[in-house]
Amino acid sequence: MEKDIRNSDFLHIGNKILDWYKNNARDLPFRQTKDPYKIWICEIVFQQTRINQGLNHYNNFIERFPDVKTLAEAEENEVLLYWKGLGYYSRAINIHKAAQQIMNDYKGVFPDQYEEILQLKGVGKYTAAAVSSICFNGKMPAVDGNFYRVLSRIFADDFDISNSKAFTYFSELAKLVMPENVGDFNQAMMDIGSEICKPKNPLCGECPVNEDCLAFSMQNISNYPVKTKKVKAEDLALTYYFVHRNGNFLIRQRKEDFIWKKLFEFPTAVSKDMETFITGSKTINHKLTHKNLSIEIFNVNVDSEAVWNDFVAENQYLITNLEGSHEKSFPKPLENYIQNSLKD
Ligand code: ADE
Repeated sequence: MEKDIRNSDFLHIGNKILDWYKNNARDLPFRQTKDPYKIWICEIVFQQTRINQGLNHYNNFIERFPDVKTLAEAEENEVLLYWKGLGYYSRAINIHKAAQQIMNDYKGVFPDQYEEILQLKGVGKYTAAAVSSICFNGKMPAVDGNFYRVLSRIFADDFDISNSKAFTYFSELAKLVMPENVGDFNQAMMDIGSEICKPKNPLCGECPVNEDCLAFSMQNISNYPVKTKKVKAEDLALTYYFVHRNGNFLIRQRKEDFIWKKLFEFPTAVSKDMETFITGSKTINHKLTHKNLSIEIFNVNVDSEAVWNDFVAENQYLITNLEGSHEKSFPKPLENYIQNSLKD
């Protein structure tokens, strides 16, 4: 048995958080279920996406793939299509693989132990803790940026959250305040973190633990959490050619294990003959988590059937049009470009 390090000195903080949750929990569709499949999907969808932005996607996804088996048996490209708009497409690829893992290794029954859930493709400690605590009475805190922020403020703790030991450190701190009902506590911390203890302009007047919060009592909330190292985004220049003729344009699916894996994109090079049809270019700046992209897209309006046919024959591009493009997932800036170029 693991030693219970919880300490009655701080447990009242967790209990207040839990009491607050009983009356103030957000009414979210995935809170009406303990189905681990649905909770898992919601944790992955909402990891990097705000609830308001992701809710429709989540509902559509669950409607089309209501259980592990349906998801496991689907085509990967259809899963990607349902992920359209959520970004971070590797998450969709991973949940598809994880569903197949559950079919193969657990006969389709979602595993109920933290350690097993952690072995699923794309599942990290946060997700494993959230699913096991919400669905199976697991006892691990679901530590994420919300936990770092709320706990560092309550304890006015200046442990650097960019330190590689931050996860372990804040997990131990969480265990000091954590009540028995860890599933609700974890979800309460998510709600407090996103609705009250916000990064900027927190609503301390509404916080159930403002009397216990050291940073609040010292009026220095904005000093927490402490973060020293900023991961510097790398600059990356990309070039594309929007090769089109009579409303049709050329695309291919990315294979590289790099950004946008498995999404569709435009040609990245054209023949000398093709170059003569370039009518101009547009540069789009787009930020990914660790990359600042500068994407130059050449408009190639192909005014020759022969050159078009030669280029299509020599390369492995697919021909699509505006309607067909709705059936494929493109990186956001390319998606926007298509809409703007072909809408009239
Ligand atoms: N964000 C991710 N998972 C969540 C949950 N279960 N409740 C509230 N917000 C969340």
